[in-house]
Amino acid sequence: MGTPGPRFWQVFFEVYEHLPRQGPGNRACAKRALELCADLPTEPRVLDLGCGVGGQTLHLAELLPGAHLTALDSHAPSIERLRTTVAARGLEGRVRPLVGDMARSGLPAGHFDLLWSEGALYNLGLENALGVCHGLLRPGGTVAFTDAVWRKEGAPPEVRAGFEADYPTMGRVADVLAALARTGFSLNGHFTLPDEAWWDDFYTPMERRIAELEVTHAGDPDALATLEQLAQEPELYRRYSDFFAYEFFVAHR
Ligand SMILES: C[S@@+](CC[C@H](N)C(=O)[O-])C[C@H]1O[C@@H](n2cnc3c(N)ncnc32)[C@H](O)[C@@H]1O
Repeated sequence: MGTPGPRFWQVFFEVYEHLPRQGPGNRACAKRALELCADLPTEPRVLDLGCGVGGQTLHLAELLPGAHLTALDSHAPSIERLRTTVAARGLEGRVRPLVGDMARSGLPAGHFDLLWSEGALYNLGLENALGVCHGLLRPGGTVAFTDAVWRKEGAPPEVRAGFEADYPTMGRVADVLAALARTGFSLNGHFTLPDEAWWDDFYTPMERRIAELEVTHAGDPDALATLEQLAQEPELYRRYSDFFAYEFFVAHR
């Protein structure tokens, strides 16, 4: 497949922007990761990088009732959707959705107690992104993030191709731990996301949305081809998830 064109992205966002979240994760995993964050103040300053429509931002707002959250994403429509949700839940005083590039957010250095990021740091290259997190955290502050990792060798070519198009430097858990050490972090702990964190808020609503759009776009072969391509991702997970995982990592500077 060549570089996706504008029509691909239109259909892609018609699917993704309507999901509760744009990657694997759930409330239980956020809670478990928070339990690995030692010494958070009662009113922590939290930054959620690559927040998407804010699935995990809203969990954090609930799980950390004293927190002040900034949620940043470069995709403006996702931030717009989060703004609407934040207003509907009366969270405007505590959750600040921001459009921006996490590589150059302009947010103050050394300011945050907790840097959170689910499935987004790889966009900058993991090590580079960890450097960004380090700069934004106060000394002693915590980073909690998920990252895709290989679990074993020998993944079929279609699985490798799917990840390598998006994340060519994807490694194993040991590679992420080494990157954390090189960027000046000490590990608190890590764990693998369970199956339900892929399905409940991500692939199940994705498959439902794709089925809806197949009806809406029944006369549009380009849209149908894109939908078919997007539908391969949950299918690959169904068949080959023993080769890859999402891992939650928690560390402090
Ligand atoms: C896989 S999605 C994860 C979204 C959300 N954290 C979740 O788990 O539902 C990755 C997100 O990172 C955002 N992103 C990619 N590059 C970015 C950048 N340089 N700065 C800010 N956000 C970025 C994308 O727009 C997308 O919303």
